[in-house]
Formats: sequence, structure tokens, C-alpha cells
Amino acid sequence: MTTAVVTGGGSGIGAAVSRRLAKDGHSVVVADLNGDNAERIADEIGGVAITLDVTDTDAVYEALRHREVDILVNNAGNSHFQFFVDTTPADWDFILKVNLVGAMACTHVVLKGMQQRRSGVIVNVSSEAGRGGTVAGAPYSAAKAGLLGFTKAIAMEAARYNVRCNAVAPGPVDTPMLHGEAAHAGELGKRLAQAMIDSTVLKRAGSPDEIAGAIAFLASEDASFITGHTLAVSGGLSML
Ligand SMILES: NC(=O)c1ccc[n+]([C@@H]2O[C@H](COP(=O)([O-])OP(=O)(O)OC[C@H]3O[C@@H](n4cnc5c(N)ncnc54)[C@H](O)[C@@H]3O)[C@@H](O)[C@H]2O)c1
Repeated sequence: MTTAVVTGGGSGIGAAVSRRLAKDGHSVVVADLNGDNAERIADEIGGVAITLDVTDTDAVYEALRHREVDILVNNAGNSHFQFFVDTTPADWDFILKVNLVGAMACTHVVLKGMQQRRSGVIVNVSSEAGRGGTVAGAPYSAAKAGLLGFTKAIAMEAARYNVRCNAVAPGPVDTPMLHGEAAHAGELGKRLAQAMIDSTVLKRAGSPDEIAGAIAFLASEDASFITGHTLAVSGGLSML
């Protein structure tokens, strides 16, 4: 049985991906900062839970170095609606670490094993913010754009070992992150979230399952000739 690790697997898109990959027959490791949520999802799908902060590189190595990982979904992420002039260097550091450096750490620890076994798939969860930018999310856009560059570079390096690496770029998705951030940022947050929804040509937010379907496809043999690609799953928010 193949093993999939889903970071941020305890909520939203990550929980949907965990459920979907389990349904597709993979043994799923649900890794999340929120250990209770990781346990809940892992119990539901018969997977394994790990409490893991992807920004703690030592902890990432400790948690993943002994595991044979066939599929890695770098999904853990965070964002804050904030105009750049109102941010601090600590804010940038936090956002870059969660959304970009955490994915690099997880990839670093599992990639060598994948290459040695000449088999493996990595899917990074970026964002339309990383492709086209977003208002009140400059560090987040930078991190998610960085993740797309990272995806392509890993795809190039790992191809000769039969390891693929792709990304998805979701638009607005109905998850605690979107609604929590919108509520946290008050009236501005609600307006920004609604503006994102209005910018999709389908005129709605996506569901976590719709993103999970795209990730499951990229992780599957059906996508065996796809690498270095960014799949927008965003209701047509941008058509770059
Ligand atoms: N919801 C959206 O509209 C949207 C749009 C584009 C991209 N995304 C991306 O999708 C991914 C999932 O977001 P979501 O909307 O499901 O949010 P969510 O808040 O529902 O889930 C995120 C999960 O990541 C976990 N997490 C946060 N920091 C972590 C850390 N340091 N280490 C490990 N786990 C951590 C949280 O505990 C949570 O379970 C994120 O990368 C996000 O940037 C979301």
C-alpha cells in the first residue's frame, strides 16, 4: 500500500485531501499543528495522525525521516488579510515559513527516499494569490509564488528519478481559513473574501472536495506525464 503524507490535514482542504486519498486506497498520514484535528481525521479514515509544526524543521525531520512516503501533499498554510504597510518583518517571516519554508522542509526530508526508490509524487498547495497577486496579502502572494518556482525546480531535478512535482492554485475555497480570516479582519476581510468570490467566472467559492479531486488526480497515475505544472482550481478566477 502506498503512503501519503498530508500536511495541514486536520482541516479544510487538507482534511478533504486526506479523506479522498484514503478512499483512493492510500494509507494516509495526517500531519497538522492541531493534533486533535489530525487525530479526528485520521480516526475517521483509518490513517495515522502526527502533531507537526511544519515551520519547525527539526520536528519535520524527526517526524518524516523514517517513513517511506510515496505521496507528499504540502498543504499546511496560513494567511492574514493585512495591507503591506501595516505588516511587520515578523509577519513576513511567519507567512513565508508556514507557506514556503515548511513545504521545502517536508520535501527535503522525503525526496531523497523517493529518488532512491525511483517513485514518488509531490503536490504543493499554492494559491491564485501566487499566480496573480492579491490585495492585503503581499507576503502570502510572495510565499505562494515562491512555492510555484520551487515546484518547477523540484520537477526538473527529480524527473530523472521518476518523481513528479506539481502544484494546485485554488481560488476562494469554503474553509475555516477563508471564513476565519475574513471574520478576523472585520469589514475589510468580508469585502476582500467577497471580492475574490466575485472574481471567479463561476461566481462562487469552491468546496474543499473540489480541490481534493484535483490534488488526487495529480497524485495519481492518470497524471503520469504531468510534472512542473500548476493547475488552477479556482472557478476561472484567472486564466493566465
Ligand atoms: N481557503 C482558501 O480560500 C484557499 C485559497 C487558496 C489556497 N489555499 C491554501 O490551501 C491550504 C489549506 O488551507 P485551508 O483553506 O484548508 O485552511 P484551514 O485553516 O482550514 O486548514 C489549514 C490547516 O493547516 C494547519 N496548519 C497551519 N499552520 C501549520 C503548521 N505550521 N504546521 C502544520 N500545520 C499547520 C492548520 O492547523 C489547519 O488544520 C493552505 O496552504 C492555503 O494557503 C486556501
